[in-house]
Amino acid sequence: MSEPRNVLVTGASSGLGRALALWFARRGARVWAAARRTELLDTLAADPGARPGSIVPLALDVSSTAAIRHVLPEVDGQADGGLDVVIANAGIGGEANPRKDTWEKVERMIQVNVTGAAATLATLAPRMAERGRGHLVGMSSLAAWMVTPKMGVYSATKAFLEVYCDGLHLDLKSAGVAVTCIHPGFVKSEMTAKNKFKMPFLLEADDAAERMGRAILRREKSFSYPWPMVLATRAARLVPDVVVARVMGKAGVPRQAS
Ligand SMILES: NC(=O)c1ccc[n+]([C@@H]2O[C@H](COP(=O)([O-])OP(=O)(O)OC[C@H]3O[C@@H](n4cnc5c(N)ncnc54)[C@H](OP(=O)(O)O)[C@@H]3O)[C@@H](O)[C@H]2O)c1
Repeated sequence: MSEPRNVLVTGASSGLGRALALWFARRGARVWAAARRTELLDTLAADPGARPGSIVPLALDVSSTAAIRHVLPEVDGQADGGLDVVIANAGIGGEANPRKDTWEKVERMIQVNVTGAAATLATLAPRMAERGRGHLVGMSSLAAWMVTPKMGVYSATKAFLEVYCDGLHLDLKSAGVAVTCIHPGFVKSEMTAKNKFKMPFLLEADDAAERMGRAILRREKSFSYPWPMVLATRAARLVPDVVVARVMGKAGVPRQAS
């Protein structure tokens, strides 16, 4: 396991991104922590767990591809030897009810979770390939494997990221660039605080960051956790929709493997 020196995390102002930024900073990396709420990034940079100067706040709205294309190459140029690890973590959740919600809500989620994440990884991939090293990380979700009511758009965005990461892995491996796709189960964060149902196997963000950080250091192609949720979502894909719907009621219908 080699320790990365320069790490970029999008969506680092809260939840998983914040915890991951701190995890890498504590291990000695310089971390560019990107998000829109820079006041939260300043608090993160002042966290006693991180060496002074190890976390660099970076104002970035990933719904703007122009901003990504302008800011990320600059950061890559500033980082001594270039960025070693780039984590496309920024994302938004929430329901989209196809009976009521308009296209704007769907579009917003696609803009952040799909276009924003893909633009982050695609902007830095050629630079890493040119250097012959680097590591791209996509933050998908177990929701990519299982659709629950009104969560079709969110699940679809996360399924995109999984398949996109598979493609990046295929095309960049021979160039020396590693790719990891992460599928978390439920983790405490601003996003999940809005959920009104009981979340099984809910993890603290620091616990989740420890698991994800280690998987990144191992350069795993795919990492999903916690295992009981992984098993449940995987198993649900193997039986027909009607059976799962009967067993789970309205709780969820698996996305069938093609
Ligand atoms: N928590 C879970 O259970 C869980 C499970 C599976 C996957 N995930 C994924 O993990 C990632 C992090 O989620 P979280 O649970 O930690 O949620 P969170 O606490 O709500 O954090 C979301 C982060 O994304 C950033 N963000 C949102 N829109 C952005 C934009 N337009 N530009 C830049 N940054 C933006 C937010 O920062 P600003 O608002 O400051 O910009 C924030 O830092 C997401 O991709 C989510 O889908 C989470």
